[in-house]
Amino acid sequence: MEVLIVGSGVIGLSVAFELAQAGHKVKIVTRNYEEGASWVAGGMLAPFSEGLVGDELKLSLESLSLYPEFLEKLADVSKIHPFFDDGGILRVFISEEEREEFSDRIETYKEMGIPFSEADPKDYGISGDVHSAVLFEREGNVDSEKLMDALLFACENLRMEIAMDDVTKVKIEEGQVKEVRGFKGTYGADFYVFCPGAWTGAIFEAPVYPIKGQILKLKGVEPEKVLYSSVAYIIPKEGYFLIGATSEDAGFDTRPTAEGVNNLLSGALRVFPSLKDAEFLGVKVGFRPATPDGKPIFEAGENYALLAGHYRNGILWAPVSAKMVLDLVEKGQRSEFFEVFGRKRFGN
Ligand code: GLY
Repeated sequence: MEVLIVGSGVIGLSVAFELAQAGHKVKIVTRNYEEGASWVAGGMLAPFSEGLVGDELKLSLESLSLYPEFLEKLADVSKIHPFFDDGGILRVFISEEEREEFSDRIETYKEMGIPFSEADPKDYGISGDVHSAVLFEREGNVDSEKLMDALLFACENLRMEIAMDDVTKVKIEEGQVKEVRGFKGTYGADFYVFCPGAWTGAIFEAPVYPIKGQILKLKGVEPEKVLYSSVAYIIPKEGYFLIGATSEDAGFDTRPTAEGVNNLLSGALRVFPSLKDAEFLGVKVGFRPATPDGKPIFEAGENYALLAGHYRNGILWAPVSAKMVLDLVEKGQRSEFFEVFGRKRFGN
């Protein structure tokens, strides 16, 4: 089948990779394969630390279980093994009140049999002013930049065509895509997959908007595990670590700011003071594709799928998003998540 994919963030590329591997002829149209959220993402696979419950948790658990095999397949084709640590994340609570607020989540996870343990912050070199910590053993951490590199290399090795264009119009009638138009021309295919990230609202009637995130890159003294706190998260990678991330309703403002950097550094130093000697490498800015209820938007039509609004969890939900489209295209199987996270909930 000929498939056209609009968008080249982690979702678009993951879908492209799975479909091309299954033998489909895939073409990607992207306005800029370097912008968006994926290159800037912290890469934490952290549904419990994020406090997800219900259908979002179900989606996350499915994606988490797909991750190791997804990365293996990707490494086979791209020859790149992105850094991946599935040794858990330490959810750090700054105060008793914060811990108390999270207690209903802890109860839910306990009832579900999610493995976690109480952790002594000192055992993890946390000398900062914190109340307590919980180790969520099934959480993980992947290097998003390397993951994006691997996906792009895989797409190239699978002989995929990537066209640079800004898609400005998608005409859908009775559940069928009739026309996809960009600045440079129109695009035809047997099946269309739309993954336009924070720019979804420009081509679909869908309430997706950018939430700016600034993230810092440093090198040197770092914690042995990801430390996830409300004031900052510190994410060790291979050869560097990240401090993330601001959450700003500032449109598509690409500027790193003094306040953003200051908040992240002071938050991280409060939790893990020994990083004061780390070398500062830089700041990156990205745009999470947010929705009013913070949940994704999935839609499956006759000849198309829309995957949008991954908000804080694009890296985590990439494998399951790709599988949903693969099952749809290959087997005509419509995942329950298309219903659960449908656009109709917003009256569109
Ligand atoms: N997933 C973490 C963030 O969006 O900041």
